[in-house]
Amino acid sequence: MASIGEIFETMEYGPAPEAAAPALDWIAEHGGEPGHWINGKWVRPAAGEWFDTVNPANGTMLARVAQGGAKDVNAAVRAARAAQADWEALGGHGRARHLYALARQIQKHSRLFAVMESLDNGKPIRESRDIDIPLVARHFYHHAGWAQLMDREMPDAAPVGVVGQIIPWNFPLLMLSWKIAPALAMGNTVVLKPAEFTSLTALLFAEIASQAGLPPGVINVITGDGRTGELLVTHDDVDKIAFTGSTEVGRLIRVATAGTGKKLSLELGGKSPFIVFEDADLDSVVEGVVDAIWFNQGQVCCAGSRILVQEGVAERLVHKLRARMEMLRVGNPLDKAVDIGAIIAPVQLEKITRLVQQGRDEGATIWQPSWSCPTEGYFFPPTLFTDVSPSATVAQVEIFGPVVVLMTFRTPAEAVELANNTRYGLAASVWTESVNLALDIAPKLAAGTVWVNCTNVFDASAGFGGYRESGFGREGGREGLREYVRPRWEREDRTGKAARTDKVGRHGRGARGEGRGTRGAEPSSRRAAVPPIDRTAKLYIGGKQVRPDGGYSDQVLDASGAPADEVSRGNRKDIRNAVEAAHKAAGWAHATAHNRAQVLYYIAENLAERADEFGARLARSTDDVRSARAEVELSIRRLYTYAAWADKWDGHVHHTPYRNVTLAMPEALGVIGIACPDEAPLLAFLSTVAPAIAMGNRVVVLPSQRWPLAATDLYQVLETSDVPGGVVNIITGPHDELRPVLAAHDDVDGMWYFGSRAGAEEVERLSAGNMKRTWASFEHVRDWSDPVQGAGVEFLEHATQIKNIWVPYGE
Ligand code: NAI
Repeated sequence: MASIGEIFETMEYGPAPEAAAPALDWIAEHGGEPGHWINGKWVRPAAGEWFDTVNPANGTMLARVAQGGAKDVNAAVRAARAAQADWEALGGHGRARHLYALARQIQKHSRLFAVMESLDNGKPIRESRDIDIPLVARHFYHHAGWAQLMDREMPDAAPVGVVGQIIPWNFPLLMLSWKIAPALAMGNTVVLKPAEFTSLTALLFAEIASQAGLPPGVINVITGDGRTGELLVTHDDVDKIAFTGSTEVGRLIRVATAGTGKKLSLELGGKSPFIVFEDADLDSVVEGVVDAIWFNQGQVCCAGSRILVQEGVAERLVHKLRARMEMLRVGNPLDKAVDIGAIIAPVQLEKITRLVQQGRDEGATIWQPSWSCPTEGYFFPPTLFTDVSPSATVAQVEIFGPVVVLMTFRTPAEAVELANNTRYGLAASVWTESVNLALDIAPKLAAGTVWVNCTNVFDASAGFGGYRESGFGREGGREGLREYVRPRWEREDRTGKAARTDKVGRHGRGARGEGRGTRGAEPSSRRAAVPPIDRTAKLYIGGKQVRPDGGYSDQVLDASGAPADEVSRGNRKDIRNAVEAAHKAAGWAHATAHNRAQVLYYIAENLAERADEFGARLARSTDDVRSARAEVELSIRRLYTYAAWADKWDGHVHHTPYRNVTLAMPEALGVIGIACPDEAPLLAFLSTVAPAIAMGNRVVVLPSQRWPLAATDLYQVLETSDVPGGVVNIITGPHDELRPVLAAHDDVDGMWYFGSRAGAEEVERLSAGNMKRTWASFEHVRDWSDPVQGAGVEFLEHATQIKNIWVPYGE
């Protein structure tokens, strides 16, 4: 007779299906075709076009979904625009009440949402019920809090306005909440376009939000495919686009929004490493892999799809993984005992099948469980590839399915090299019992999230988003709010409300330690001696003054139009050399913040030493001695400002649930290209270079084209101030020729530009190649002497990106 233990071992699970009826009833009540949700009402598509949405677990049709056309998108944007001013004026507390109400509604209807999500998307009900929907509610609660605290915590911030949001099909309602909650909290209104495969929970949500009293127009939902998304992206009256989806479409959106002044955040694909050191607890690791790649059928942007395991334990891990895979259950998503549900659509199933075949063809060893998947619907078994070379297609391409590759390494350094051997940088997880090792590796990984001994954990309080081609911007956490605000002065500038006089007083609250009345610094009235015209400034590359590659010089004219001096004309090759030198100076990012501060103070000291000379030089560009001296004085103060910030732009510790705390660490972007404006040639130069290098970046700077001499004079100041060679590189010459080279350069990680709309368009468009972060400011004439406009927190924000490191903590 079998023992109880044996009976447990051999017992089959009976089906435990969740009823689909409440969700199907909702669809039926809406005639099987709910339409768009615009201005608080159901609206049929103006062009009369519809498409079917199906249940991927059995291929049956669930509803007809409206295909949004230009008229529909226009109506939705109009409604959002009309609602925005009142929504903003409601104030933080009023919005907090609405967001709180939305969180409550999610909880009250949680099962309906979970069932609808599983029907439409194919994810197991266990996941939609226990992970997606609770996280959605948490997101609204958390952001109700940010609405409440906005005035106090972000006094210089204003809403962006109308936000277009485009989301994918893998976490339909969760991605909706990641987009809508922060946008609404910060006083924006939204037009959201769900993915064409999964529109239903967004529509259900919009109706429930309205029933909960949300004013019409605050949330509008437009359904449709990529064409609808494109209409939203290119709409003139949308102030920001927030997108989650494939890197390919993200790149198209980057190009389409270039030069429009729209803010943009992109959360794109990944090929995230899952690093297992030999001292890791392998049983936990196995459960980690299940969560990393078999959660949501592997259709997760941050899926741990590359297992990197230390050689000594590789065989044991593979053995344990295969045993665990054999136990996984694939089947009806509404069955509460199912681990892996259906793949979203035939097109995705074909993509997975094709890539898996390619993996076999390229010589990798495939392993799948012995059982077979249901034949009805779109299913794919959990799959493990071993004997994979790092350059194999399956090791490089985002498969977006339940397929994981396993590779081995010997040393921690090799693990880091393999981990970073991808164009992506979304997430990584590190498994080791050694806290020293984990926290040594975490900063070395090029990824926006690093999980230590855990994986695929998310929370509203922690930012999420990528490095490199995984996109930019963060969702969640304090850092996610930045995506939905702009500096208040810009908004006032735009609406003409600003009293242009009394700037310092108006922005007094935002003064960042530079002191008030900085413009009143008393300059010397003595007209300084005119320097002789006797030299041609060279370029400054790698800490050395070098002749330009092309052998040309340009004349610089003074305020009266007379020749003042000559500067070298840099070219494409000089830019390339400068970028290379900047990369070689990568050690600067690892210098201590204290050390970087010291260097900035030293630059200030040496500049102060030569203040007269700089004042005289600047005065020739404007013929205004007073303002020239004031500019030098302000430049010295600005260097002090960023020397001060260097060791104070701290991260945060997020209170994430589970057994974690999450360290949100600002990190340098790497190499930043800076195209300086013409005005305030010394002050604008230092106002941009100082924050960038204070945060550990290296810069390649195009100084003011009209008056580059203030920058070329700085060579000697930099040389005597312990600035390591390559940290600051300066290339003079025509911006129109040099700027595009910098913007398109694949080894430049960020690009700042202050100038015309056409220039901004070019910078943003060319940045799409490697998805470098851009800051193209062109709509507003920035007053560089103003402590907010010339030295606000946005400079530090643009100089850093945040890595969220989840570490075990407490019990
Ligand atoms: P996708 O990037 O095409 O779709 C995402 C969203 O963008 C959808 O709402 C879609 O309608 C919209 N869209 C498509 N083209 C657009 C355009 N030109 N302008 C504006 N919006 C547009 O992703 P898709 O086709 O659903 O999946 C393809 C692959 O992308 C997947 O196999 C996977 O590798 C990756 N993917 C990555 C996601 C992530 O979270 N990082 C999410 C979904 C897909």
